Amino acid sequence: MAAAVECVVITDDEQGYGLDLFCIPKHYSNDLERVFIPHGLIMDRTERLARDIMKAMGNHHIVALCVLKGGYKFFADLLDYIKALNRNSDQSIPMTVDFIRLKSYCNVLIVEDIIDTGKTMQTLLNMLQDYKPNMVKVVSLLVKRTPRSVGYRPDFVGFEVPDKFVVGYALDYNEYFRDLNHICVISEKGREKYKA
Ligand code: HPA
Ligand code: MG
Repeated sequence: MAAAVECVVITDDEQGYGLDLFCIPKHYSNDLERVFIPHGLIMDRTERLARDIMKAMGNHHIVALCVLKGGYKFFADLLDYIKALNRNSDQSIPMTVDFIRLKSYCNVLIVEDIIDTGKTMQTLLNMLQDYKPNMVKVVSLLVKRTPRSVGYRPDFVGFEVPDKFVVGYALDYNEYFRDLNHICVISEKGREKYKA
């Protein structure tokens, strides 16, 4: 069995931070409960993931595959850190990007925002097999601890989070909250206001 992937674990009793301690857009001020993962912490963890991924990928060309839309912030920031490593270290990996358009890939790095039940990722991985990639690695910023999980674990994980609905840093609730830097827990008011 594969060893458990190490990541930052956010426990079920994590309280997060009061909204007033951070800068939140006024239009969301009543729609959020707490700041859960501040933007700076997301960036610091992403910087380290970039290093771990580079180490694991060897030096073959990779295709970084962004799972839209929720993955776009994490994708852009992770690739910025990988690019900085490519510029500044002895090892460098040529990289191209794509946004879930299927074609023949060599090495593929799938960049996802959140693994919740894991069903979406299982489907995507099955689809990718038809294109016979050399190597497929998955990095997800978040993995949710939920009884609905099918048991799928990605190769790299930023944070393991409790079974709560989180928004921000491109994660949405009915398309809203992508324009929020921090990852926050949505409030009842927010759910009501932006429900489909
Ligand atoms: N937040 C946003 N999108 C999601 C979540 C979540 O907690 N789970 C699955 N998709
Ligand atoms: Mg997603």
